[in-house]
Amino acid sequence: MIDPAQLADNWRAHIEAVLERWLPSEDTSPERLHAAMRYATLGGGKRIRPLLVYGTGHALGLDLDSLNAPAAAVEMIHAYSLIHDDLPAMDDDDIRRGRPTCHRQFDEATAILAGDAIQSLAFHILASDPSLKCLPDTRLAMIDALANAAGSRGMAGGQAIDLTSVGRELSLAELENMHIHKTGALIRVSVRMASLCAEHADEEIRQKLDRYAECIGLAFQIRDDILDVEGDTETLGKTQGADIARNKPTFPSLLGLDEAKTHARALHEEALKAIESLDPARSQVLRWIADFVLNRLH
Ligand code: IPE
Ligand code: IPE
Ligand code: MG
Ligand code: MG
Ligand code: MG
Repeated sequence: MIDPAQLADNWRAHIEAVLERWLPSEDTSPERLHAAMRYATLGGGKRIRPLLVYGTGHALGLDLDSLNAPAAAVEMIHAYSLIHDDLPAMDDDDIRRGRPTCHRQFDEATAILAGDAIQSLAFHILASDPSLKCLPDTRLAMIDALANAAGSRGMAGGQAIDLTSVGRELSLAELENMHIHKTGALIRVSVRMASLCAEHADEEIRQKLDRYAECIGLAFQIRDDILDVEGDTETLGKTQGADIARNKPTFPSLLGLDEAKTHARALHEEALKAIESLDPARSQVLRWIADFVLNRLH
């Protein structure tokens, strides 16, 4: 029997090496920009999105290396989104992954450009990586899916809703809609890209995996909101209480902590239910990821 926690650690080390290979070295011109790109991408983070790519591929019988391109691409889009999320014009945060945010370590202009360039690199990888052995149409479908998930109908759109929601009381439906976009979209597309890669998989399996991803994507941001209330800065690697300080609408602020936790638990249940017909041994990691999303402390 595989130990899913061990497998996840192996995959984290694996994606670190893949990202390292794609990022230009710090002594390549323009050095400061490349240093900022490496700083914001390497050596930190839970790597939940690459784990979902690899975990879904594992459940569908795919080879690990054949998934390096979507795993690296989605993690880069995520890394870029965090750089911009932390900027003074957005959440104005000083700590990320236990160290100064990119604009604090470098400067605002460099941080903006690092985000821009990491985003471009993500699509370059997906378009060109020879280890992605799928049909050209499948590659195009993956690029399209990632572009949609990152754009105004996905993550960037969710971030826009987030900014206009500060200080307002949202309805539960509005709050869910914001979370589904700003965080859910990249989590969902992680699973989607891996299931597209499995060209033999039938559409029913893909839909089950998509439902799983939809549920854990929302649960992930609810847990993020909960940790802003009851986590600690040291463990989180980012400033606890930042949402409260900035008057952000969150699940705990709307429903209270207990109800927010109940909501996350229900989504976790729903996620597990969606994949119950998959091979139990091969889908063990996906169940482990769902548990991790619900119970994580950082
Ligand atoms: C933080 O994402 C921002 C959200 C979408 C909630 P993660 O919690 O995945 O951040 P890292 O990559 O582990 O640092
Ligand atoms: C960030 O949400 C979502 C994206 C970066 C797209 P948050 O603003 O809640 O993330 P943290 O708490 O700063 O990590
Ligand atoms: Mg934010
Ligand atoms: Mg933030
Ligand atoms: Mg947050």
